[in-house]
Amino acid sequence: MKFGIQTYSLTKSFKDIKAVNHLDIGIEKNTIFGLVGPDGAGKTTTIRMLCSLISPDSGTARIGDFDIIKESEKIKNCIGYMPQKFSLYGDLTVLENLKFYSEIYQIPSKISKTKIDELLAFSNLTQHADKLASQLSGGMKQKLALSCNLIHTPQYLFLDEPTIGVDPVARRELWKILFSLRNQGVTIFVSTPYMDEAERCDEIGLMYNGSIIEKDTPANIINNFQQHILCIYSDDNYSARDLVKTLEYVDDAYLFGEELHVVVEDYRFSEKLKQDFKEYEIEISSIHEIKPSLEDVFVHTIKNKSDDGDI
Ligand SMILES: Nc1ncnc2c1ncn2[C@@H]1O[C@H](COP(=O)(O)OP(=O)(O)OP(=O)(O)O)[C@@H](O)[C@H]1O
Ligand SMILES: [Mg+2]
Repeated sequence: MKFGIQTYSLTKSFKDIKAVNHLDIGIEKNTIFGLVGPDGAGKTTTIRMLCSLISPDSGTARIGDFDIIKESEKIKNCIGYMPQKFSLYGDLTVLENLKFYSEIYQIPSKISKTKIDELLAFSNLTQHADKLASQLSGGMKQKLALSCNLIHTPQYLFLDEPTIGVDPVARRELWKILFSLRNQGVTIFVSTPYMDEAERCDEIGLMYNGSIIEKDTPANIINNFQQHILCIYSDDNYSARDLVKTLEYVDDAYLFGEELHVVVEDYRFSEKLKQDFKEYEIEISSIHEIKPSLEDVFVHTIKNKSDDGDI
């Protein structure tokens, strides 16, 4: 199958840190691919290589028909890239920022006017066109940043944590825009720390220590998880967690807001757990099995990898 984005053993180190380690992934056209992973996993480095902004030490990748090393100029024309900290010009208005970017991309002025009107309407910024960018809310700033990156109608869009610091309502609005771009044929590669956003992607890759350790649809990732999650409520979650971590039939335990999540091979261990809590005089108000969330799967998968020290 011919993918829209394909990497071939893509590798990049910074001194002794292997930021991206022999990455081989294929991403279908017209999909939203979400790259998730803890701080320092290698997400930004991957995106910067795919956008031809830094060169790999070895390996390569193709975006559409173009090779990121041999055809970097062509890559730049077919992609939009929104870095983690995208710079808008705060002392220019919304409209002036868009005009500025259309000049950078050398869009003929006739086309540029129509495109800018379209993007303003698309991102709901028309009535804010004359506001200074510095005076926009966080969500509006991100929508403007995204619009600036869409001015040349890219077929591939790379977004590095585009919704950091954006309130939930604005985040949802930004995602609506991404869905509509995908439906227009754009292939989107987005990194995000938010699991609710990961769930909205067509496919996700979990990155850890420079490698993708899991890649599938959100539903398959959850369904393929073999273990069981027991959810426990107690007045003293910390003591409950410390106890369960010492039990040999418990694979993992971590706090999840008000809940304690315990990972076990078999849901019937809940009976054993109840007895152990009784024996150690820890009061619990309820214990029941829950369907794992993406976050459960990722927390556990990453913990397993770091315990094994296998990557
Ligand atoms: N220019 C650089 N010089 C030295 N080390 C770097 C450089 N850029 C990245 N690194 C290191 O490479 C690793 C991967 O970094 P990268 O920024 O790609 O991670 P990330 O997944 O984007 O993290 P975050 O979620 O914090 O943005 C980290 O250990 C980081 O410290
Ligand atoms: Mg990053």
